Amino acid sequence: MKFNIAVVPGDGIGPEVTSAAIEVLETIAKKYGHEFVFKTYIAGGGAIDKFGDPLPKETLEGCINSDSVMLGAVGGPKWDNLPGKMRAENALLGLRKGLELFTNLRPAVIQPALKNASVLRADIAEKGCDIMIVRELTGGIYFGERGRSEDGNMAFDTEIYTVPEIERVARRAFEIARKRKSHVTSIDKANILESSRLWRDTVHRLGEAEYPDVKLDDLLVDNASMQIIRDPSFFDVIVTSNMFGDILSDESAQVTGSIGLLASASLGESQRGMYEPIHGTAPDIAGKDLANPLAAILSAAMMLRYSFDLTEEADEIDKAVSDVLLDGWRTADIKDPDATTWLKGSEMKQKVLEKLL
Ligand code: IPM
Ligand code: MN
Repeated sequence: MKFNIAVVPGDGIGPEVTSAAIEVLETIAKKYGHEFVFKTYIAGGGAIDKFGDPLPKETLEGCINSDSVMLGAVGGPKWDNLPGKMRAENALLGLRKGLELFTNLRPAVIQPALKNASVLRADIAEKGCDIMIVRELTGGIYFGERGRSEDGNMAFDTEIYTVPEIERVARRAFEIARKRKSHVTSIDKANILESSRLWRDTVHRLGEAEYPDVKLDDLLVDNASMQIIRDPSFFDVIVTSNMFGDILSDESAQVTGSIGLLASASLGESQRGMYEPIHGTAPDIAGKDLANPLAAILSAAMMLRYSFDLTEEADEIDKAVSDVLLDGWRTADIKDPDATTWLKGSEMKQKVLEKLL
């Protein structure tokens, strides 16, 4: 099969980890007789420097016209003090909105080989953690009205959700849960926020009407953030708003040991998705061949799974990654605290490629 993949390497460690993921995809393509055509686009800080625009029109259009988008990471200290619209992060928000990617999947899994890397007490980590966070991605306070008064003494942001927005992401969560342990936990702040009360009512109405076979419960976000570290094995699928999902996914990442291992998929109604590691640009280690490429590689596997329906190929990449870890190979971010040697990013990529040959 032939697929056109738009690649947006971005800033910091983005280019190094995406090129590792591309090599993995090329290896898989050769093995299974597929053709992946990669076209690179500029976005983020690099695009601000070159075009004065974090998301040039050609980039957005190129992504819209692709079969899927692979993104590295955007942003960095150099662009942190620019005014709102010129921020590198707007590239990300513009792509999410422009491609109508309302669902963000962030799996937080403790790799069996890495139980020691979890920050949790051994007896808690031992019980395992396999959470799929389903984060709403094109609504809520990220996109609600915001502003500042003329005298600069007042500012506001608005959390806003409609029933259809809640339903479409909740539907995704229920569908995914059916393929897992059939348990959805909806997370909100319904004791305070009206938008959360609408969220909770809507998720329940949908669950009762269309997914009675899926167990549904609710947690308030403050309590949920505690439960994720107290007993992550409680969770199967979490569905939550844009802002709460942003925060809880970083927390879950740390529970698994390293943000360097976490992949993500952003999906809309169409087959086309956007796939990115959630670790960000890590400017302090950029260009030093220290970045762990596994999150980007696992994101590429998600692309095969969710956008191209290439399940066997995706499984093979996932397995190659966990086998390399089981063999004991580590990058700096996941090494034992007293280890004296570890792999560079390119060496880790090589280990994965060897498993795929
Ligand atoms: C993420 C990031 C982004 C977000 C930022 C960079 C805009 O933190 O993908 O989680 O808040 O969504
Ligand atoms: Mn985040």
